[in-house]
Amino acid sequence: MERIAVLTSGGDAPGMNAVIRAVVRTALNNKMDIYGVERGYAGLVKGEITRLNHRSVSDMIHKGGTFLKTARCPEFKDIEVQRAAVEALSAYGIDGLVVIGGDGTLRGAKDLSDNFGIKVIGIPGTIDNDLAYTDFTIGFDTAVNSVLWAINNLRDTMHSHDRVSLLEVMGRHCGDIALYAGVAGGAEYVLVPEIPYDLDDIASKIKKSYLRGKTSNMIILAEGAGNRDEIAAYIKEKSGISVKVTNFGYIQRGGSPNMFDRILAARFGYKAVELLRDDKDSCAIGIKDNKVITVPFDEVSKAEKKFDKRLYDIAHVLSL
Ligand code: ADP
Ligand code: F6P
Repeated sequence: MERIAVLTSGGDAPGMNAVIRAVVRTALNNKMDIYGVERGYAGLVKGEITRLNHRSVSDMIHKGGTFLKTARCPEFKDIEVQRAAVEALSAYGIDGLVVIGGDGTLRGAKDLSDNFGIKVIGIPGTIDNDLAYTDFTIGFDTAVNSVLWAINNLRDTMHSHDRVSLLEVMGRHCGDIALYAGVAGGAEYVLVPEIPYDLDDIASKIKKSYLRGKTSNMIILAEGAGNRDEIAAYIKEKSGISVKVTNFGYIQRGGSPNMFDRILAARFGYKAVELLRDDKDSCAIGIKDNKVITVPFDEVSKAEKKFDKRLYDIAHVLSL
């Protein structure tokens, strides 16, 4: 394979630029032409494709976001829209594609491969860590560290004022950001979509903790696990103690990728180009037990994400 392209799709994640850089430099090292597609599948359909070189990715490794930009393109589920993307690739003589994104992006990659025989390598890039086939996705670790920064700051002010804090974090339907940040940040309660929780019990524990002299409590809420304002109001009603609500929001999607995400980016980007160079079958790349793995797209879509219940239990034992 001599001419390949790279795109980022879905929600951006810190480390996507580092992956693009790794793909570009590895391709050039293998004497392959490398193209960048702007705005994910939306840009691919419109033929927003430009040639990249060594300098295109200079000074990129530490930058959050994605310089290729990203987009949602719901119409990409339509096979005729996919056909337009394939035509754009063939107009540039591109015979292999690296896509960086979450589960939706990998579904699009599977379609391009299954329906049109395009060689596509998928790299997991999302802060949510919601892909079952890989231990970690690009951006998750950095996002959790940003949440930790927020928890530390909240702890300071909540402790000073003897307050209860509820911090909502992202993750769509996955509780991993809340879980990891909750354990690392010493939160008293971690509310995730995967495990039912009892607000009466939480309210009563918070009230008892006040009577024991523990006057500050931290609740981390994953976005898929309930409405932050309703939860806060309910706890206040049941315990008589008010809960200060913070939504961390898009801040956790940005920022300079940390060491873990940069190393993962280097390993994934390098592997993706190797696979295309060697004309291997389309697949997704992941990491299991610190080994880079390749998984057929069929298995990616079938795999069911397991929640780390043990870590969840540890969180609650250590914090009370
Ligand atoms: P993420 O990749 O982060 O999960 P999305 O779920 O928004 O983000 O998916 C990104 C893009 O992938 C969508 O905007 C769409 O273009 C494409 N996509 C999502 N689901 C499918 C699907 N079932 N078939 C084809 N393409 C899809
Ligand atoms: O998938 C990443 C993510 O940030 C989710 O955590 C969140 O639910 C969603 O994207 C937000 O999407 P948007 O950028 O479209 O608001």
